[in-house]
Amino acid sequence: MIVAPSMLAANFGQLDQEVEMLNASQADWLHIDVMDGSFVPNISIGFPVIEAIARKTVKPLDVHMMVVNPQNWITRVRDTGARIMNVHQEACLHLDRVIHEIKQAGMLPAVTLNPATPVDMLRNVITELHMVLLMSVNPGFGGQKFIANTYNKVRRLKNLIAENGANVIIEIDGGVNLDTGRHLADEGATALVAGSAVFHAPDPIEYISKLKSL
Ligand code: DX5
Ligand code: ZN
Repeated sequence: MIVAPSMLAANFGQLDQEVEMLNASQADWLHIDVMDGSFVPNISIGFPVIEAIARKTVKPLDVHMMVVNPQNWITRVRDTGARIMNVHQEACLHLDRVIHEIKQAGMLPAVTLNPATPVDMLRNVITELHMVLLMSVNPGFGGQKFIANTYNKVRRLKNLIAENGANVIIEIDGGVNLDTGRHLADEGATALVAGSAVFHAPDPIEYISKLKSL
């Protein structure tokens, strides 16, 4: 299992120590949540903080853009050194173009779906994607309850990928812990984002290694 701790749940008062802890862990990527107060009802972090994380981390960044018009920020995200840029389908009027612009910028393209958006919305672009991120909560906040319909969506997405002969990572974000993570792995999820479960665990490094072995 690919494991991407969500920095939203980190202690920003000691960001360097948090990143060093993750450097020493089995985490595959760091998941960075960018919110603009328009696409989602919250504001999180922007480029100065992403750059500070990027300077300190040895892990690739998976940048989840919960913003309107994410296409406006492709170059800025690339300049942080991010490996993956995740844009919401619901935020892109011209999704195919945005995917190609992310690739042209040298990043791996990922598209995120809100809980109410069917996986079929990606039928015509699935072969172009490195990853699909299924939100298992309504985006905007950490620590929310996992929406159980996500299990069905993982199955449907897995079928859509297979029908198209594509090779796409299935990542899940929101309310992921060892319990929901185990079920998600059974259904075919291949990457898990976890914020509260990791950072509120008594031993985050150990928790990450348990998620890793799912
Ligand atoms: C929510 C964010 C998530 C969030 C997950 O809008 O996209 O990445 O940090 O937090 P937990 O794991 O606490 O649900
Ligand atoms: Zn996220």
